[in-house]
Amino acid sequence: MAMTRKKTVTIVALLILIALLAGAIFLFYRSAEAPSNNSPQATQKQDSPQPTPDKQPSTFDKKRYSIDDPNSIWVVVNKQRPLLSDFVPSNLQSIQGGQLRSEVAGAVQQLIAAANKENVSLRTISAYRSFATQQSTYNNYVKADGQANADTYSARPGHSEHQTGLAADLGNGSGQCDLEVCFETTAGGTWLAKNAHTYGFIIRYTKNDTATTGYQYEPWHIRYVGVDLANELYSKGQTMETFFDLPAAPTY
Ligand code: DAL
Ligand code: ZN
Repeated sequence: MAMTRKKTVTIVALLILIALLAGAIFLFYRSAEAPSNNSPQATQKQDSPQPTPDKQPSTFDKKRYSIDDPNSIWVVVNKQRPLLSDFVPSNLQSIQGGQLRSEVAGAVQQLIAAANKENVSLRTISAYRSFATQQSTYNNYVKADGQANADTYSARPGHSEHQTGLAADLGNGSGQCDLEVCFETTAGGTWLAKNAHTYGFIIRYTKNDTATTGYQYEPWHIRYVGVDLANELYSKGQTMETFFDLPAAPTY
């Protein structure tokens, strides 16, 4: 019995010793891993908070071009923002289907060539229209359809983007759904909606923005603004009015 008690005491003592040793080893490693309060790492953590993964602020320069100058590729023309009746763009160039400002003519030609490469046939139906041409176009629609209806799809003279030489109406090579909303679902309309921004164009009169633009949905009317702004508007899904903080222009 005495031997057994002595054995037990020894084992307990050994166990206590092992536990103490393990505790000491644990404390040693913990203090080696943790930064001391005086280490640069600890100081940095307290003084300069880690950057949060917030979105970077947009660096797009909204003032890069004028939105008021009719010669600017960013000019905003709508029912509240007319052009002078004698404004004519200075560098018009003839293409199939009409005339456009030279940089826009090149962009449309590239766009149509790219569509052709993907077996999509697009053509220009209408491009630059002078004040006088817009006047007769609008008057014809008013005679045929009444002024209230005409105002939903045809600009009054002096208010059309076509007068800037920056806008064009495109259609399928086949003529399917020319200047009709069903153009949206045709091969040409689908391709245009997906790719126009790559060539610097926006679909100017979008489906859900009629109260802002003042016009019904026109999936065929493209407006040149340059690749940077076209990408910005496309990715944000914004109209020119909204993007540039301009008032909506539903009426004259
Ligand atoms: N169809 C567009 C709104 C225009 O006449 O300029
Ligand atoms: Zn148009």
